[in-house]
Amino acid sequence: METLKELAAASEQFDMVFIDADKTNYINYYNFILGNNLLRLRGVMCVDNSLFKAKVYLQETTDENGLALREFNQFVASDPRVEQVLIPLRDGLSLIRRVSVTSTCSRTENKITTDEVFHGVRGRSILDRMRLDGKVAYVTGAGQGIGRAFAHALGEAGAKVAVVDLDRDKAKAVAEELFLKGINAVSITADISQANDVQKMIETIVSKWGTVHVACNNAGINMNSVSEDTTVDEWDKTFNVNLRGTFLCCQAAGRVMLKQGYGKIINTASMASLIVPHPQKQLSYNTSKAGVVKLTQTLGTEWIDRGVRVNCISP
Ligand SMILES: NC(=O)c1ccc[n+]([C@@H]2O[C@H](COP(=O)([O-])OP(=O)(O)OC[C@H]3O[C@@H](n4cnc5c(N)ncnc54)[C@H](O)[C@@H]3O)[C@@H](O)[C@H]2O)c1
Repeated sequence: METLKELAAASEQFDMVFIDADKTNYINYYNFILGNNLLRLRGVMCVDNSLFKAKVYLQETTDENGLALREFNQFVASDPRVEQVLIPLRDGLSLIRRVSVTSTCSRTENKITTDEVFHGVRGRSILDRMRLDGKVAYVTGAGQGIGRAFAHALGEAGAKVAVVDLDRDKAKAVAEELFLKGINAVSITADISQANDVQKMIETIVSKWGTVHVACNNAGINMNSVSEDTTVDEWDKTFNVNLRGTFLCCQAAGRVMLKQGYGKIINTASMASLIVPHPQKQLSYNTSKAGVVKLTQTLGTEWIDRGVRVNCISP
């Protein structure tokens, strides 16, 4: 208890607390921990021996520890600050999670507003609601740079991630990185400027994971040349990847998403779509990225009331 007081005075907070040993004081530790916010919201307390050789259930028991644990278990079971489960493992282990409740606030004189802001929507906090557990995502151009970072971010948020790139080795390496972090990942080699490749990419993802929820159409190229020397070949290559490729990906992923009435498409445009990053010489790049913004606006407007949201970012 002295240690707990020191931790509380230092405003420490923990994700996990383990309570063991002094059975008759379990309830005091427990109340001190919750009363002083030593356990953060959604944090878990593990309490050992909570069945105490089954003595907690024996009507006639006079065992001091058994009685203390019976009182403790009853107190926890009726405590609205937590949800809990008692696991009948060896001598019993209680897992107690802290949840948000209004009754803990009744001590304050201020009016407490118990709405979705307080409790979260359907009881889920804002960070929980931003998680992507169970979602299927792909990122094009994920073999390096911004796309690679997207792939890690989506995976860390809980999504399964298809790492798509023209460069087979780079895609494989990033999928391997994700796998090492415990993220379900697959690498796909595709040239997004080719309709067949894009269709195969979507089919591979759907056959592996059933669907697509999040599409990051990120692959792009910039060949840089002064405008008077920009060749038709450079113009076409740039447009084929940046604009045609983004269109093909939006359409192929969009068809799957429209069918299920759910999807998020995030295209990577560029600030060069709106401003001219002078003195960089990149006429075809700037113009193609302006096209990505208009493509995004048009699809976003056309598909929004069918459950598919289309946005772009402009690094
Ligand atoms: N880096 C920046 O400062 C910046 C700024 C604004 C916009 N952007 C945009 O962000 C996106 C990513 O930029 P980055 O800097 O990470 O790029 P990058 O060049 O580092 O990586 C792009 C990846 O895309 C892959 N790729 C190229 N063509 C492809 C194709 N046809 N099919 C599939 N994959 C292909 C490449 O192999 C590479 O792995 C691009 O669309 C780029 O235009 C980048």
